[in-house]
Amino acid sequence: MDNYITGATVRRLREEKGITQAQLAEQIGVSSKAVSKWETAKGLPDITLIEPLAKALGVSVMELMSGNTVINKNVSANMLRSKFYVCPVCGNIIRTTGDAVISCCGITLPPLEAEEADDAHGISIEKVEDEHFITVSHEMTKSHFISFITYVTSDRVQFVKFYPEGNAETRFRLRGRGYIYLYCNRHGLMKKKI
Ligand SMILES: [Fe+2]
Repeated sequence: MDNYITGATVRRLREEKGITQAQLAEQIGVSSKAVSKWETAKGLPDITLIEPLAKALGVSVMELMSGNTVINKNVSANMLRSKFYVCPVCGNIIRTTGDAVISCCGITLPPLEAEEADDAHGISIEKVEDEHFITVSHEMTKSHFISFITYVTSDRVQFVKFYPEGNAETRFRLRGRGYIYLYCNRHGLMKKKI
């Protein structure tokens, strides 16, 4: 765990709630001296107190732990804001529609930043009836290959996984404007507007 409750958060939330250290202490069954110690960074609340503490302060455990007021702004998540994470150890692929802290194999993964596809990773898009036929001419060896291609539009993500020795080509149903992303295990995430 990287973060634990900070005294400053306890103080701020307690003051916002308009209660004294003694009142908070009474609600969760500790001494007011204990609360005072937490708030002045001379001690930390035991893990078993986190839930009652959050309840007494009128916040969620997550808000208490992060020190931030949590408001769910992701209610109309747009797939075009998708972020991709790839674990360099096991190859796990994760997509989110907003900010997240993602970890895999003990590593915190950064969201991948997509570059415009370069010549070595050219994405050819051919319209065939109601589908896009996508081809990436790129080597597909075990040490260097296209791992996935995905077609992201505002309401949908179409995703295809590739393996070495295969062909990096697929078909996607036409869904309008968006992005084609490809992921090369050596060169990372690339995109092309569609
Ligand atoms: Fe590559």
